[in-house]
Amino acid sequence: VDSVPPPLLVAGASSLWTPDGSPSGLGLRDRPAIAIAGGRIAWLGPEGGLPPNLATDPRLVRLDAAGGTLVPGFVDAHTHAVFAGWRADEHRRRLEGASYASIAAEGGGILATVRATRAASREELAELLRSRLDTMLLNGVTTVEVKSGYGLDLGTELRQLEAIRDAALAHPVRVVATYLGAHALPAERAHDREGYLREVMDLAIPRVAQDRLATCCDVFCERGAFSVDESRRILSRARECGLLLKVHADELSASGGAELAAELRALSAEHLLDASDEGLEAMASAGVVAVILPATSLMLRARPVEMARLRRAGCRVAFATDFNPGSSPVDNLPLVAALACITNGATPEEALTGITLHAAAALGLEDEIGALMPGRCGDVVVLDAPDASHLAYRMGARLARHVVRAGQVVVRDFARVA
Ligand code: NIG
Ligand code: FE
Repeated sequence: VDSVPPPLLVAGASSLWTPDGSPSGLGLRDRPAIAIAGGRIAWLGPEGGLPPNLATDPRLVRLDAAGGTLVPGFVDAHTHAVFAGWRADEHRRRLEGASYASIAAEGGGILATVRATRAASREELAELLRSRLDTMLLNGVTTVEVKSGYGLDLGTELRQLEAIRDAALAHPVRVVATYLGAHALPAERAHDREGYLREVMDLAIPRVAQDRLATCCDVFCERGAFSVDESRRILSRARECGLLLKVHADELSASGGAELAAELRALSAEHLLDASDEGLEAMASAGVVAVILPATSLMLRARPVEMARLRRAGCRVAFATDFNPGSSPVDNLPLVAALACITNGATPEEALTGITLHAAAALGLEDEIGALMPGRCGDVVVLDAPDASHLAYRMGARLARHVVRAGQVVVRDFARVA
């Protein structure tokens, strides 16, 4: 992405949809247009109303929206996208009745991907991630959170985070890295839990923060993974070192993760399949974003979190793919937005807010991205649809005709151009 692209006018759209805090969002019906200058949204309004200083700028480039719909660039706020190897065999076994937890207890699951990821070089991991970012971008995703957590020893965790940095370096997608060393107890530490916790808290977290290899720290707070007390110790250390906090909470069982996220005022608590109403209410009062993962509940054939419960609790809700080789081999965020409506009961507006503004909030970026407003980063998607409800309706379709990242056109007519 060039540092200073020429000013861009996106015009010829039939509608514009952006979260603005209200449940209905905003639809400007009178030929909406957006101008982006210096990488940021400079103006939006009816096409004829472009301010003279922009209208007369000789460098102004025009992008034809072809009667489509303007929406903010999508934000995938929860992925495990840097991994080697797939686990189709485990999927087959689950279809035959095995559970996610029983496969993990036999040394499969996360630990199977750890073995494959440890065997991969930094270059291989970076290349795998790069090609995944390419796919996401074609679906309109302009920001992706990527977690480590398939290394589980200091060297491989750092290698995963370095691979994330390498892949992000020359890629249009903005990448937010999260350190997830507390994803599982590595096999070689089966009898040395405290030793592993010390490695995470005393070596990994300070190093990750110091070298700016990640901005967030996450913990898998779950029976069979890390307890509430262990998660609190790890996250408190992460906060001391300046990292932002996230929690994998109540995914497979009610484990007190939502309450912990509220107590620590984490950015987000994620999954929440078995979260209590009290936990969700505590999250809402503490401003913790609920990151809901509809593809994961579908894959695991678990009961999805009802949007009605989240609404009642007052939570801000984001929807994300959880892209990983085990519980969600799904990289398609627009598909997840559609699933949020079908399986969780979200409205199309809630689904779109969940992959834009609230997803941005789950990354601490709500003032920067996730809404089409003057001053925000110029990340815009032009959907090949007359209005944004098609995203919730045409499940998994590739609707992102054009993608603009920080004012630069990176996908034009469904093809990568930068
Ligand atoms: O978010 N819950 C823990 N981590 C992932 C699954 C990772 C895996 O199965 O490889 C999740 O579902
Ligand atoms: Fe996850």
